[in-house]
Amino acid sequence: MPSKSELASANKAKKDEFYTQLSDIEKEMRYYRKHFKDKVVFCNCDDPFESNFFKYFVLNFNRLGLKKLIATCYASSPIANTQLSLFDVIGTEESKQNKPYKAVVTKVYDKTGDGGIDMFDVAELFKSGENSLSELEGDGDFRSKECLELLDESDIVVTNPPFSLFREYISVLFEHKKHFIVI
Ligand SMILES: C[S@@+](CC[C@H](N)C(=O)[O-])C[C@H]1O[C@@H](n2cnc3c(N)ncnc32)[C@H](O)[C@@H]1O
Repeated sequence: MPSKSELASANKAKKDEFYTQLSDIEKEMRYYRKHFKDKVVFCNCDDPFESNFFKYFVLNFNRLGLKKLIATCYASSPIANTQLSLFDVIGTEESKQNKPYKAVVTKVYDKTGDGGIDMFDVAELFKSGENSLSELEGDGDFRSKECLELLDESDIVVTNPPFSLFREYISVLFEHKKHFIVI
């Protein structure tokens, strides 16, 4: 996890591109598990191909009893599709084109029949149309109309947002009266 001073200098330098580690997300989320039952979770600064927030909620979808998981990412992220490659399992050409995507997950089960749930199952669920992965119309900015519509549809927002827009980000969540966990 980046130190406090690293975060402060990232903020100063307007460096918005850190991916949060899955272990840090797991450590934090264990305090909130009971709040997710039947809820729509929105990760609105999260490339579904890369984000560990998205991965965490996919892998824990049934355990938490989620109703829906939505993730959107920002078009101009210079690190989109470059780091974690969690969705290499999808192996599509699109996944390499740095486009803003929206992933909507409503079902997670052992589609591959190997006895466990993993990202391969989720990739299969996208392929078979039981969940959807589609390009956004705009650039995926959390303030854009389509992302605000998704925000209104959601119950809880969970992410690590861009540091340089932190205040604006939080005020949007307040304006739309959302519960949130922001790391
Ligand atoms: C600190 S990174 C964290 C990424 C991811 N949420 C995670 O925790 O791994 C912040 C992310 O917000 C994205 N971002 C920057 N400006 C944005 C905007 N206006 N709307 C939505 N996302 C934005 C960046 O591209 C970057 O991927």
